[in-house]
Amino acid sequence: MIDDLSVVDEWGPEKIVCVSDARTGMRGVLVIDNTARGPGKGGTRMSPTLTVGEVARLARVMTWKWAAVDLYFGGAKAGIRADPHRHDREAILRAFVRALANEIPAEYVLGLDMGLTERDAATVQDELGDRGAAVGAPGALGGVPYDEWGITGFGVAEAVDAAARHRGLDLRDARVVVQGFGAVGSAASARLAELGARVVAVSSVDTVVYDADGLDVGRLVAARAELGEAALAEVAGHRRLAPGAELELEADILVPAATQDVIDVRIARALGCRLVVEGANLPISPPAQEVLARRGITVVPDFIANAGGVVAAAYAMDARRSPFAPERGAIFVAVSEKIRANTTAVLVESDRTGATTHATAQRLAADRVRAAMELKSRFPVPA
Ligand SMILES: NC(=O)c1ccc[n+]([C@@H]2O[C@H](COP(=O)([O-])OP(=O)(O)OC[C@H]3O[C@@H](n4cnc5c(N)ncnc54)[C@H](O)[C@@H]3O)[C@@H](O)[C@H]2O)c1
Repeated sequence: MIDDLSVVDEWGPEKIVCVSDARTGMRGVLVIDNTARGPGKGGTRMSPTLTVGEVARLARVMTWKWAAVDLYFGGAKAGIRADPHRHDREAILRAFVRALANEIPAEYVLGLDMGLTERDAATVQDELGDRGAAVGAPGALGGVPYDEWGITGFGVAEAVDAAARHRGLDLRDARVVVQGFGAVGSAASARLAELGARVVAVSSVDTVVYDADGLDVGRLVAARAELGEAALAEVAGHRRLAPGAELELEADILVPAATQDVIDVRIARALGCRLVVEGANLPISPPAQEVLARRGITVVPDFIANAGGVVAAAYAMDARRSPFAPERGAIFVAVSEKIRANTTAVLVESDRTGATTHATAQRLAADRVRAAMELKSRFPVPA
């Protein structure tokens, strides 16, 4: 799984723990990247192609993400190399957390990432006999179910509103395209409609639904709750377009909330919108980011716009030790305030320096981590 220490640099990882179990065939890894600002926190994924390098990269992203939202946790991530659909996944997950019983929850609290569900958080709490071992458990166990509540998508819409205000764009006149109608895209669309925006298109991997006068988002979200992704093809009264066509539509704001690498240089040159808010992780290639910056199109970077789940996870860390159910309303207020403040701060700083918003957000995060390392005399640190 690992053959050298090439993943290590000045920032971390501070610790990599590989675990295995012969009986179940479980193989997994925990990476604690940088704890200068607080204990390591990040999700656990289950994927058949998982590598140590991948988990180390994701742990580093968490270091920057926590610092960028200015919450006092450090970067960490864990992973299990297994197909999440296999019949014995529960036994594998149980073996994984048993093997990491020294680290969970003392040094790492399990959270949900690709391939893991709220039910898995409950399994981890059960296996270690500790409600504090995992966050993201179902509401019935006093957890904070991020996707069910649509927290990340809600935060993405708050970032859209904050960025639109910063650019002098009235959201109530704005036409918005949302790519992706999963947990993030559907919740973002719902909140955008609530804020008065005209959502003219939403899409899944195989369907684009379009209406120049504005979609009936409430009906689409309700249909998704009942039918899943198929809802987009079912709801009557709107036009259907070919997959991918959503990126070529006339709109003021684009929210890519589906997957990575969807906007390359060619698409960046053709986009007609004034604002792009990244709901998905890494939807715009670095050269395409430069093109958008040169064209004066404002971009709110992923780890600023989609940090709603991270803010909620911070609340969930407290909730797992409390007998009181987490207060849903308070969490949404905190997500809104944090995301709006961070979005505006990054745009103001980027305007001031002329650097791209991605470079600005990255710099802000690195400066905060460096300051914490200096205060703890963890030298040398990169300039
Ligand atoms: N769920 C979260 O809390 C969260 C938090 C931070 C970041 N993200 C990121 O947001 C993105 C979406 O996550 P999600 O949880 O909503 O996933 P999801 O699986 O619930 O939904 C993904 C949606 O994107 C669509 N899609 C996939 N590929 C597409 C393509 N090429 N073109 C158009 N549509 C496409 C799918 O059909 C689906 O509607 C991912 O990049 C994820 O890493 C999610």
